[in-house]
Amino acid sequence: MDKIQSLTGMLDLYDDGNGDNLSVKIFETEKILREIFSNYQLKEIRTPALEETTLFKRSVGDLSDIVNKEIYSFNDKNEKSIALRPEGTAGIIRAIIEKKLDQSTHKLCYLGPMWRYERPQKGRYRQFHQAGVEILGYPEGAPEFEMISIVCKIIEEFRLKNCLIKINHLGNKNNKESFCKALVDYLEPHKDKLDDKDLERLSRNPLRILDSKNQNTQSILENAPSIKDFIEPSSIKILMDIKSQFSDICDIEIDYSLVRGLDYYSGFVFEAVSSDLGAQDSFLGGGRYDYLCSKLGGKDLPSIGMAIGIERFASLLKDITSTNKMASFLVVTSNLEPKAYKIAHQLRSMNKNIRLDLQLSKASLKAKLRRANKSDADYAIIVGDEELKTNTVIFKYLKDESNDQEILSVDELFNIYKSI
Ligand code: HAM
Repeated sequence: MDKIQSLTGMLDLYDDGNGDNLSVKIFETEKILREIFSNYQLKEIRTPALEETTLFKRSVGDLSDIVNKEIYSFNDKNEKSIALRPEGTAGIIRAIIEKKLDQSTHKLCYLGPMWRYERPQKGRYRQFHQAGVEILGYPEGAPEFEMISIVCKIIEEFRLKNCLIKINHLGNKNNKESFCKALVDYLEPHKDKLDDKDLERLSRNPLRILDSKNQNTQSILENAPSIKDFIEPSSIKILMDIKSQFSDICDIEIDYSLVRGLDYYSGFVFEAVSSDLGAQDSFLGGGRYDYLCSKLGGKDLPSIGMAIGIERFASLLKDITSTNKMASFLVVTSNLEPKAYKIAHQLRSMNKNIRLDLQLSKASLKAKLRRANKSDADYAIIVGDEELKTNTVIFKYLKDESNDQEILSVDELFNIYKSI
């Protein structure tokens, strides 16, 4: 029989007991991000992984690589074209419109898998996870500062080194139009040197040419007009203000060539990159998308958001092992002794900061102690036949040089456990 294997670019995430493993870092990252999101009073939203393909064509843009080349779409049994979501924003706006929530403001967060049919390489997968924030219903101003505050908080909280936040402003509709016209005028004489993809961009969405991967195009662009000369002084001011307020926490650079790969952006955009990541150096990106909601049939809902690529982000973390103490609970009785398991249950509710690993196997005391040491436990709590008879336990300090142990009554154990 043919061996069944996982699909290319899709990871199985599991804790193999090795603290340095990417999966463990991913799980820990998600936990800490949830705490940060809650600290910012963001409310969780979960939308389906599958949506109508048209949603992404209309929002992310059918010229973008994400929709044009990378979307996982297929016909369902009813011949309807559906797609695995390549990103979270479009589905959230769809849900907000559908539930008629588009006349109010929202501060939302989400976490979940996304799919893009990309060529897998380090930091680039076909199934990956994003944690995102969307602030809906507020025009430019305070939300920009809140968004960069969240980005800085994340970088600070995880003590990330070597990263840079790039920011830019795509201007208002008129600015964008004038800039695009100037860009097209500049590129017209170079048309014969552009590849098919950039030619199509030139005719349908010229701004996206700035994002071209073609070296030839990039060298032509060196002398192209800059968006800096087309946006309002107030847009430049917001970039300057953000840079000056947050630069003491994180490195921030104004990059007038940053356009981002999704069509829905308008106004302020940003990306965070790390020189420790290699080719796929962006671990977070976002920006303002004031017209997406109305474009999808909803009300005018000026909004801003961002998403973190969890796999890339987690791979940057050096050491993320929990600082909470750990106790290993060893029952070594000749029969199954329900009373022993009740003690473990009571301990868990007495001190939630201690991780209690109840060893479920029937192994010997020696084997269980070996496992406790291997799993880096600080304490072992041992319950054998003798202890059960006398209502005691053995409490062993695994990390002390002396490897001391003491016999405690169950009540004494409870008191010590509470005070750790
Ligand atoms: P994005 O820049 O396309 O933005 O994706 C955000 C992050 O997801 C990237 O910075 C990267 O870390 C990660 N990512 C993207 N593709 C892959 C992949 N194939 N493998 C691993 N990680 C990947 C968005 O998705 C927007 N929805 C962000 C946003 C929210 N803008 C406004 N609101």
